[in-house]
Amino acid sequence: MKKIVRKLNSPIKGQIKIPADKSISHRAVIFASLAKGKSIIKNFSAGKDPLSSLEICKKLGVNAELKNDLIINSDGKFTPAKTPLDCGNSGTTMRFFTGILAGQNFNSVLTGDESLSKRPMKRVIDPLTLMGADIQGKSGFAPLQIFGKKLNGIEYKCPLSSAQVKSSILLAGLQAEGKTVFHEPFLSRNHTEKMLEFMGANIQTRNCTTIIEKSELSPCTFEICGDISSAAYFMVMSAIVPNSDIILENVGLNPTRTGILEVLKLMGADFEILDKKELCKEPSGDIRIKFSNLKGVTIEGDLIPKLIDEIPVIAVLATQAEGKTVIKDAQDLRNKESDRIKCTVTELKKLGANIEETQDGMIIYGKTTLKGGCEVETYQDHRLAMSLFCAGLICEKEISINGFDWVNISFPEFEKIFETIFSD
Ligand code: S3P
Repeated sequence: MKKIVRKLNSPIKGQIKIPADKSISHRAVIFASLAKGKSIIKNFSAGKDPLSSLEICKKLGVNAELKNDLIINSDGKFTPAKTPLDCGNSGTTMRFFTGILAGQNFNSVLTGDESLSKRPMKRVIDPLTLMGADIQGKSGFAPLQIFGKKLNGIEYKCPLSSAQVKSSILLAGLQAEGKTVFHEPFLSRNHTEKMLEFMGANIQTRNCTTIIEKSELSPCTFEICGDISSAAYFMVMSAIVPNSDIILENVGLNPTRTGILEVLKLMGADFEILDKKELCKEPSGDIRIKFSNLKGVTIEGDLIPKLIDEIPVIAVLATQAEGKTVIKDAQDLRNKESDRIKCTVTELKKLGANIEETQDGMIIYGKTTLKGGCEVETYQDHRLAMSLFCAGLICEKEISINGFDWVNISFPEFEKIFETIFSD
């Protein structure tokens, strides 16, 4: 689907509710399926990715009904699926289920779409193999054939900070004999650790180390907060469209995810957090953000995992900041739904941004007037689609975004919500 986006000639104003966090939704449905009994999940994401996780749980014998709430009734264990399990576009689904299915007493096959079949799975296969798993894939890529085995705990020093890898190993550790100790260089999002603890797992965390032992999970009622990664598009719109002022309700504020707020603060953006609360161990609140004069910053090191999914839209923001913005230590962005370094730089250049690609990130020189007046590509990547939409709102001439419907992967409500805050 092609989407035409035109320059906004008036500010965005209003108050919007941000839909459910994608990462927490995956965890809620998968972990509830591993717990014996009835779990109730309130505010489950409507994104295609979490729905892929839900469909797989059903194919593995779990009784799940999605109405307003998602109700899970599980025996606390999975049964073999009759057909391959399709993870769609979702890296989280594939990596989590690889860890879980490696320790079952049956065999499974995990498949994915074109993009997911090109994403590296060796990062989970290697440590799982050390635990005793037997996983076969074409040189570390999907489809993955998983031969269920008894697993042993290991101590593993992960070379990258990835919550998907960490979660895969912890989920294998939940079924393994002995302790599993996982170290990561910088702390990645810790929703798995928090939710497993909430459900009674034997898990401890200290700085960048997590220790887990074999445990039974208890069923729970969860309420999922809004997704800060989805909120990021609206934060950026409000910061770059003159005179804007919006309130984003119910945004998850877990410190392992709030890198975007740290960047906005460093850039000098005008925002405040209102009405903080906690939902099932996850902090959340409302964010008020206004149009701001911004300055360039350097984004690197331990900040990167806290904003990994926001980098394409931060690049858009940086085109409107005075001076140089440098993003480094982000080489893993090349392994996302697209090569997000190359694709972000290529497409923003088409719009007139002064931006260059580096091996582990990008450099953006601002402030630039984006000219637009062209077609841009999403590379089947939802985050590229929404970032380019934000850029289109400040381009002098209209732009046409090819493949805009990829937004449905994480944020099907995106356009509807946008329509409530603009008054052109
Ligand atoms: C996710 C972790 C991140 C992120 C992805 C979702 C998760 O990936 O990019 O969108 O839910 O754990 P990595 O942990 O591999 O960086």
